[in-house]
Amino acid sequence: MCDIINTNVYFYIENELNAAVIIKSGKKRYFRYSVSACESSARAFIIEWRINSMKKKISSIPFSGTPEQEEKLKAVIAANCDDKSKLMTVMQEAQEIYGYLPREVQVMIAEGMDVPLEKVYGVATFYAQFALSPKGKYNISVCLGTACYVKGSQKILDKIEESLGIEADECTSDGKFSIQACRCIGACGLAPVMMVNDDVYGRLVPDDIPGILAKYA
Ligand code: FES
Repeated sequence: MCDIINTNVYFYIENELNAAVIIKSGKKRYFRYSVSACESSARAFIIEWRINSMKKKISSIPFSGTPEQEEKLKAVIAANCDDKSKLMTVMQEAQEIYGYLPREVQVMIAEGMDVPLEKVYGVATFYAQFALSPKGKYNISVCLGTACYVKGSQKILDKIEESLGIEADECTSDGKFSIQACRCIGACGLAPVMMVNDDVYGRLVPDDIPGILAKYA
């Protein structure tokens, strides 16, 4: 892949982890994982390309952070940026502020903490505590605890995903529905169970799903 960034800079992707910015003068600068050594004119492009090349778990819902939220995040970063081991702390606080970790917030954290964006993304996807999508107006939790699982809750989850066109941990583009898989919610006698916000539905079969979703449409 080679893209022209401007008349003087070409961006050349060698593979997923290595890339080079080639300046017209013939200078070639490699970087790996970090864009900090890169020419500033190329950085935004590189960040965008890397995010776009990541697995698409990141929400496509437009980011709607407020200046107040950004101020809070900047203060958190300023208080922790001298110690890279505080990355998790910063990400937890960022999630408190925004409710999830959209890509714009991940970029702010990566730049503020001076760590590769891939690292922030890697931590966000590795730990279940971090959400990459906002919760929808109606958050659907499907129990995958043992009692529900043996009674077919995976098929319930599959049907919901198919009906809404999103996967677990994602939110529909209109912000209406989000889906989560969860552990036992204490209603095993009704297995398999799902919840839509606080409404509990039990003894489900996949054919029940369209009717339930229609109540919230
Ligand atoms: S295992 Fe699903 S409610 Fe207990």
